[in-house]
Amino acid sequence: MPAEKRSTVAVFISGSGSNLQALIDATRAGILDARIALVVSSRSDAYGLERAKKADIPTLVFKQKDYGSVDAAATALLARLRDHEIEYIALAGYLKLLPSAVTKEYAGRIINVHPALLPRYGGKGMYGRHVHEAVLASGERESGVTIHLVDEVYDNGRILEQSRVPVEEGDTPETLAQRVLRQEHKLYPRVLNKLIKGEYV
Ligand code: GRF
Repeated sequence: MPAEKRSTVAVFISGSGSNLQALIDATRAGILDARIALVVSSRSDAYGLERAKKADIPTLVFKQKDYGSVDAAATALLARLRDHEIEYIALAGYLKLLPSAVTKEYAGRIINVHPALLPRYGGKGMYGRHVHEAVLASGERESGVTIHLVDEVYDNGRILEQSRVPVEEGDTPETLAQRVLRQEHKLYPRVLNKLIKGEYV
């Protein structure tokens, strides 16, 4: 399909952006039939912004606190998404709750990747290392990846896909995180592609 006809995606990040990289690589490999037309970061020092620049993707640093109110922030963000003709949003390590005006506007077209098997180990405060610490502290034998639709509550929307990984003897939060992350990189582009193709109805 010619590039201009591809569905457009904005990827939202707050940090390293390794999932962003996986999505970029998947568009090149033909696994993800979409154009990443914008990368939005909640932090100006997120390494993912470098990855975006390297891939010639426009970037936007968006901090809700720079606006007078949540409504003003939502209006500004929606305007920028419209400027870039964004059809889908993929959250990839984005640590902020999006204004509900944004999740409503993109209902059914906004997804997130979470590094555990929801509905367990999700919700406010359950991000990054905290997730893997909680999984290990509970003595779980497995963890995994969840990809889900996003609504106005953290980690709450419909689950689209999950993939399991074992918890291994002697795992630390870091070793478990790495194993889960490798799985995220495989699963996320494929699920986003399926969403765009209308395979989740
Ligand atoms: C990933 O583990 C993702 O599941 C979680 O935050 C982490 C982001 O990593 N939401 P990266 O920025 O994509 O490397």
